[in-house]
Amino acid sequence: MSTLVDNIAVLVTNEADRPERENAALVIEDGKVAWLGDAGSAPHADERIDADGRCVIPGFVDSHSHIVFAGDRSTEFEHRMTGQPYAAGGIRTTVAATRAATDAELTANAARLVAEMRAQGTTTLEIKSGYGLTTVDEARSLAIAATLTSETTYLGAHVVPAEFKDDPAAYVALVTGEMLDACAPHAKWVDVFCDNGAFDVDQARAILKAGMARGLGARMHGAQLAPSGAVQLAVELGAASVDHCTFLTDADVGALAGSETVATLLPGVEFSTRQPYPDARRLIDAGATVALACDCNPGSSFTSSMPFCIAVAVRDMNFSPAEALWAATAGGAAALRRTDVGGLAVGQRADLVILDAPSYVHFAYRPGVPLVHRVLVSAD
Ligand code: NIG
Ligand code: FE
Repeated sequence: MSTLVDNIAVLVTNEADRPERENAALVIEDGKVAWLGDAGSAPHADERIDADGRCVIPGFVDSHSHIVFAGDRSTEFEHRMTGQPYAAGGIRTTVAATRAATDAELTANAARLVAEMRAQGTTTLEIKSGYGLTTVDEARSLAIAATLTSETTYLGAHVVPAEFKDDPAAYVALVTGEMLDACAPHAKWVDVFCDNGAFDVDQARAILKAGMARGLGARMHGAQLAPSGAVQLAVELGAASVDHCTFLTDADVGALAGSETVATLLPGVEFSTRQPYPDARRLIDAGATVALACDCNPGSSFTSSMPFCIAVAVRDMNFSPAEALWAATAGGAAALRRTDVGGLAVGQRADLVILDAPSYVHFAYRPGVPLVHRVLVSAD
């Protein structure tokens, strides 16, 4: 069965030499892009989708989420909006609620958030554990995440839980020992929150190395609350991505620029914590690969909307609309080391979004307006 999508005003493919085309068409076969080119020379296909002058983009690749949780922290958000700073310790509130929830409750909440994301154009999604912080609760969080995505991340090192507050070394031993044994079978990645109030650089190095020794790929939370050695540790270990990058030193930018490690920016966090927005120009102009993701979680960024993140990134982080769209699609794919998603070149997955707009510039030009007309996702 083949499907022709034609009458496309602007088609974004993210091909290196020609990232977007006008008056284009594409053909989908077996879940992949089989042909693309000028609408006038499109081949015959079994069925046709008329885009009716709309813009077509690759599905968003949201490479950072924490959606296996229970509870609500809207009161904490309210306090932040009247001046209270964000601190890592808020995570423990969600940990208590998550431990008390059943598998069915956690699954239903996560599935509802995945549906929200999908309706806003996200077709590939990473999900972390990190609100269980016991062997059993981290393992069940990852088992639930694995029912929703193949991009699962073990984040036992989210914060030191209250019961280990006097002995963080014992918690690091658990995270690198028994907890890792139970979680590794359900995870593709290992992550650490390396920042004030969470884990330091030496603890983070030990945790990431233990995960890597078990075959997990490394990724990090770094420089969210303060500059630290986290970004350079991510580069040193060849992590796929270091996420947040709110407070970067010149040395951090230099290290990222010459590396395979993606800098993933999370505009929802700065929006929801009133922290300063990082300047994407500094990274892009230095030659770093930059991604955008939602960081959907109940504390620092409870948005599931990549269009919202693009609007903020363009308005407040100095991305051009084209750079922001690239970062939310191809950039996210690079952060997950995926080549099959994040673009619509021939051979890539036919995960695409037809917009209710003639151009993707409308994500920032019409902020907050639902612009997703239709989402097509290829079968795995
Ligand atoms: O990515 N920084 C650490 N983890 C989350 C926040 C989690 C929370 O506040 O519950 C983040 O921002
Ligand atoms: Fe996060």
